[in-house]
Amino acid sequence: MRVESRRAGRALLQLPGPTNVPDVVLQSISRPTLDHRGEEFSDLARSVLAGLAPLFGTSRPVALYPGSGTGGWEAALVNTCSPGDRVLVFDNGFFAAKWGRLAAQLGLEVAVIEGVWGSPVDPALLAAQLTRDAAIRAVLVVHNETSTGVTSDIAAVRAAIDDVGHDALLLVDAVSSLGAMPVYHDAWRADITVTASQKGLMLPPGLVALAVSGKAHQARQTAQMPCSYWDFEPMLEAASTGSFPYTPSSNLIAGLATALDLIESEGLDRVYARHRRLAEAVRVAVAAWGLPTVCRDPGSFSSSVTGVVLPSGVDEVAVRSELLSRFGLTLGGGLGRLAGSCLRIGHLGDVDEMMIISTLAATETVLAEIAQTPRGGVEAAMELLGNGRP
Ligand SMILES: Cc1ncc(COP(=O)(O)O)c(C=O)c1O
Repeated sequence: MRVESRRAGRALLQLPGPTNVPDVVLQSISRPTLDHRGEEFSDLARSVLAGLAPLFGTSRPVALYPGSGTGGWEAALVNTCSPGDRVLVFDNGFFAAKWGRLAAQLGLEVAVIEGVWGSPVDPALLAAQLTRDAAIRAVLVVHNETSTGVTSDIAAVRAAIDDVGHDALLLVDAVSSLGAMPVYHDAWRADITVTASQKGLMLPPGLVALAVSGKAHQARQTAQMPCSYWDFEPMLEAASTGSFPYTPSSNLIAGLATALDLIESEGLDRVYARHRRLAEAVRVAVAAWGLPTVCRDPGSFSSSVTGVVLPSGVDEVAVRSELLSRFGLTLGGGLGRLAGSCLRIGHLGDVDEMMIISTLAATETVLAEIAQTPRGGVEAAMELLGNGRP
């Protein structure tokens, strides 16, 4: 870094991923690289894989690959589907739509339910489509749509599939929910649940993990999609052997061990409660600024990210660059058809009250200047946090 470009203090990455990585996790990652065929690594791998399972809400082995969330989408499909299979995507945001496009690129036939960006998955629409289409092989839903800040009710999606007696596999994207809000892979009877390292798990990007049901295992036996790197069979064996079919991201796995220790020592329920409270603090501030959230359904507010609709004519890019240059704060912008129209405030991972208050103070200042929005959001958030102290 050039000396004159140095900014004092700590930059805040309040994106909905990648998120701020705790120093102890960074220190674990920076350890000397391990022999991934040695005993020390296999002990580490087994304990990390065991520690990851409760976050998925599964008692079954979890697969952990070097890769990003997009790779997890592909893994879910190539392990369970055959060329030409029909899959059903509920498009209620940028990431749901992108998963559908990836399925089409793989040669699957993709049926899309056009949902509302800002609303959750509608189980009734899913049920209606499944009733009409017995051939659907898999239903693809995003638990927490990071582009809008909307969390969908996956138990209700499961119930909709069951109610119409459909045999489709349920594939769930929990990329921006796992570690920040409860995920119940087994109880939802999800067939594959995907997550990635750079969000609630408080790691840099580079790991992707999958929980896999017994039914998905069976589907693997007949699935005909080309599948090598993403084959989950040898990956799942690592849970007992500690040995991976190809070179694992061993330093990130060392970091994940520390991140899981942090989560365990805080307590999973307290981690979720912290995310809920901080999310609520962000929303009271946004309300005080007189701005709507992208999420239109108060029952579906995300604990990970809040999308804030900007007044028309306000340049999203100008707001974000002012936040970065003046305060060292990075917020997310609108994605896809929401580009230019909203800010996304990430509040997941290693985040506390102080970080949220700083984020809101900087955002309030810049919005008041650029968009002439009222102040008072920081005060409202502080009051909520003060009152709600557990
Ligand atoms: C919900 C969701 N799914 C999938 C992805 C894609 O993950 P990646 O960018 O790690 O490939 C993202 C990325 O932000 C996401 O938020």
